Amino acid sequence: MSQIAVSMRNITKAFGKKVVANKNVDLDIYHGEILSLLGENGSGKTTLMNMLSGVYYPDEGEIHVEGRHVTITSPKNAYDLGIGMIHQHFKLIDVFTGLENILIGMDPKVNSKDCQRDVEAICKKYGFDLDLDKKVYEMSVSEKETLEIVKTVYRGANILILDEPTAVLTPQEIRKLFAVLRNMRNDGKAIVIITHKLNEVMEISDRVSVLRKGENAGTVAVKDTDEQKLTEMMVGEKIELDIERDFVEDKQKRLEVKNLTVRNIDGKKVVDNVSFDLYSGEILGIAGISGSGQKELLEAIMGLQKCEEGSSVIYNSTAHGVHELVGLSTKEIISYGLHLAFVPEDRLGMGLVGNMGMTDNVMLKRYKKGNGPFLHRKKPEETAQKIKDELEVATPDLDYPVRRLSGGNVQKILVGREINNKPTVLMTAYAVRGLDINTSYAIYNLLNEQKKKGVAVIYVGEDLDVLLALSDRIMVLCSGKLNGMLDGRTATKEEVGYLMTNLKEEER
Ligand SMILES: Nc1ncnc2c1ncn2[C@@H]1O[C@H](COP(=O)(O)OP(=O)(O)O)[C@@H](O)[C@H]1O
Ligand SMILES: [Mg+2]
Repeated sequence: MSQIAVSMRNITKAFGKKVVANKNVDLDIYHGEILSLLGENGSGKTTLMNMLSGVYYPDEGEIHVEGRHVTITSPKNAYDLGIGMIHQHFKLIDVFTGLENILIGMDPKVNSKDCQRDVEAICKKYGFDLDLDKKVYEMSVSEKETLEIVKTVYRGANILILDEPTAVLTPQEIRKLFAVLRNMRNDGKAIVIITHKLNEVMEISDRVSVLRKGENAGTVAVKDTDEQKLTEMMVGEKIELDIERDFVEDKQKRLEVKNLTVRNIDGKKVVDNVSFDLYSGEILGIAGISGSGQKELLEAIMGLQKCEEGSSVIYNSTAHGVHELVGLSTKEIISYGLHLAFVPEDRLGMGLVGNMGMTDNVMLKRYKKGNGPFLHRKKPEETAQKIKDELEVATPDLDYPVRRLSGGNVQKILVGREINNKPTVLMTAYAVRGLDINTSYAIYNLLNEQKKKGVAVIYVGEDLDVLLALSDRIMVLCSGKLNGMLDGRTATKEEVGYLMTNLKEEER
């Protein structure tokens, strides 16, 4: 076997009292090898690597680099040990050129001509394609990433860590990146690539280490495994949850989404030709690695994202019958009285105004029903009181700023307000993120009650056990595409996990 570059032993890292991001993790990284670090969102991949790059310091455990026991206290410290990490969010200065960005922070004695010559040599040696005179703001994401990698190599990194480098790239760009990574590996560099895409793991890496809920769930040689086995390692055994799930007989179509497509500012399709129907009396769970288009899909339906193509039609939205939503702003959706409700990921900000109390927040949503600036506070006050009583919101009074309340109470207010408007369609994004178990169950029960009342519910979630226990159907998104629609009562965790991480052949 080749020479060991890094060995991490028994590494534990917690944030606060509740979140244990890494627990007793062992990990070995070798020269002349590409190691994939695979795991679901939140499984602790970035945190683990940030302890090598000097961003975090472990609570427990030991790190050895090139056979020596080391203490890594800063990114500079990591560089001195030959470790460089390319983060998901690039740290480049927009108004500077590529070369200027490489020179920043270098010893002022380094001459820019020498630097350019050395950088060009690196590009030639490994096959990087980079225009050093271009300003960063003129570069594509792929060019920026290339610049970050070249900069890291120029600074002497022999151990390179890339955090989800392919997330922002097109298939052609990924191929190019992989070719460069192989060249560097063959030159003896140690390379770690953080990813959650199984096909990439199989294609690019020699070995793969899987993290699950902060722990190392195993390390295998790629030649000894396959995508199915890796999925099982990633998702683990199914945990049976005691969440109520009723069956509603009478189902009516409530939403019809057809070929919906949304592009982000970089021109990438974040929602790619998605079509589905949603019915009353059902909870449609949406599964996917975070960033697979869940957020944009809901926002597009809600009028918060511009759609490039497609339509979404709401049915039987009181007084209006059938209505096309694409092209309407959120404000119009509300003012037309279309009974579409949205509980966004960003509770304080997009959902509620933190400085306002419950009453004002309830009023906010109803502003069109008010009479100019002289709004009646009586009705909203009654509603706020009703929400407080029914959902047991713990607040000193109805005018107490909601940002001072716990996450669970904030979520109850938001869900309460949306339900109070008697929606036909209720869309929720990460409704239980950051909430304790009891509050989470309270939210599941609320959604289930809504479903029984005939509301069509969308639940975007990240915990597969919850999705499998709560949903009537599960829609899986992968790279913005609808990659599978499963029956929530019969689907397995492996099936969902597999569809989350493997785009079907015909969709690639
Ligand atoms: N700076 C931080 N403060 C608090 N919690 C954090 C911080 N960074 C990560 N976490 C939490 O640690 C866990 C692991 O996160 P992360 O390492 O980013 O996972 P991954 O990279 O696998 O998606 C998550 O629960 C995340 O919310
Ligand atoms: Mg990460």
